Amino acid sequence: MHKDNTASGDELNIENIGVGYKILANDPTNSSLTLKCEILSKKILDGIQLYYVHYVGLNKRYDRWIKAEELILKPGSVEIPKKKKKEKKEDSKEKTPELESARESEEETKIKNVETIIIREFSANAWYYSPYPREVTKNGTIYLCEFCLYYFSSQELLNSHSKVCNLRHPPGIQIYNDGELSFFELDGYVQKNYCRNLALLSKLFLDHKSLYYDIDVFMFYVLCRRDENGHQIVGYFSKEKISEQGNNLACILTLPFEQRKGYGKILIDFSYFLSKIDGKISGPEKPLSDLGLLSYRAYWLEVILEEIREKRDIGIKELSLKTHITEEDIIGTLISNRMIKYYGDGLIILIDENMEKKMQRNRSKKIDPSCMLIDY
Ligand code: ACO
Ligand code: ZN
Repeated sequence: MHKDNTASGDELNIENIGVGYKILANDPTNSSLTLKCEILSKKILDGIQLYYVHYVGLNKRYDRWIKAEELILKPGSVEIPKKKKKEKKEDSKEKTPELESARESEEETKIKNVETIIIREFSANAWYYSPYPREVTKNGTIYLCEFCLYYFSSQELLNSHSKVCNLRHPPGIQIYNDGELSFFELDGYVQKNYCRNLALLSKLFLDHKSLYYDIDVFMFYVLCRRDENGHQIVGYFSKEKISEQGNNLACILTLPFEQRKGYGKILIDFSYFLSKIDGKISGPEKPLSDLGLLSYRAYWLEVILEEIREKRDIGIKELSLKTHITEEDIIGTLISNRMIKYYGDGLIILIDENMEKKMQRNRSKKIDPSCMLIDY
């Protein structure tokens, strides 16, 4: 263990490292590298000092508890928090209990409260805080009913629930069925319990939204895969009943053990399919998360290329009218793939050899309109 570092002339040792300090640690994405992290909290568990760290520059889903030996006390690399003075000033102001409890709950949501979720045979690490009741999260692992998404603190409690739970698919209306995959449409105001459970579950993997408030104003589109027991959820998206910005999607999630299998593209395609039915040009609520942006960019590119294959000289406006993707998102996709050139007053779309190859591939993950079960 390294000792006696100096950051501002003071002698530092591991005992002095507290909340707000920035310090080097092993990079969780590449164990041969180190990365600066900020200490967000400290606790002692079974006699071992643990530090809750956020890695600078990495998404919050990598935040976690680490032991002292993972921190690297290299001379000159420890940053002491600057806000000490400001805090003192604030301390002298009178604190109201409301302010205090708001601050405490803000602090609390910075730290993951669930380590692991178990659903059927799958287990997954949670990425972010979600406001599950404390008595359920007390052991760090939560057990979910695969059909109603109710949550329990132990396998035994879940087992007794499963004996009486008779749901075999999400409540609501089945509006799409291709034999294997189905979409169920739920109204947040009507199927309140399920939608609340779904919002709690998805908050574990979505950082940027307070999506568990105001469930009433959303519709939920739940994508399920059929197996011998029923329709198993793989992902969902929510949509505001009335969107001021004209968005066709508020939040999207594929359950972590179902990711990278193309379900994200199917969910996105369905959101545009609904826009097509409404006759609207639309898109997701922004900002997108890192994975949200990657998935949308991949989807938008595939759809754009499919249209260009049909009509080589198609313009941006026409692309937008045909695909129901906004012109802004089309231009963003073309720019990020270096497929656009300003020419005189206009824009031209460039297709290089690589894009030409991509264009020849058929889009496999898409909605089949003939599988809709109701007339919209
Ligand atoms: N790394 C690199 N590229 C990725 C990754 C990843 N981890 N995930 C998706 N992509 C890209 C790929 O290009 C992929 O296509 P490919 O597998 O053919 O290369 C494409 O996105 C789509 O992949 P899918 O398998 O269709 O998408 P998936 O089912 O994994 O779902 C989703 C994507 C919903 C964004 C998922 O990652 C997720 O649930 N993330 C957590 C929640 C989230 O961030 N949601 C978006 C928030 S923004 C909003 O809600 C408006
Ligand atoms: Zn249940």
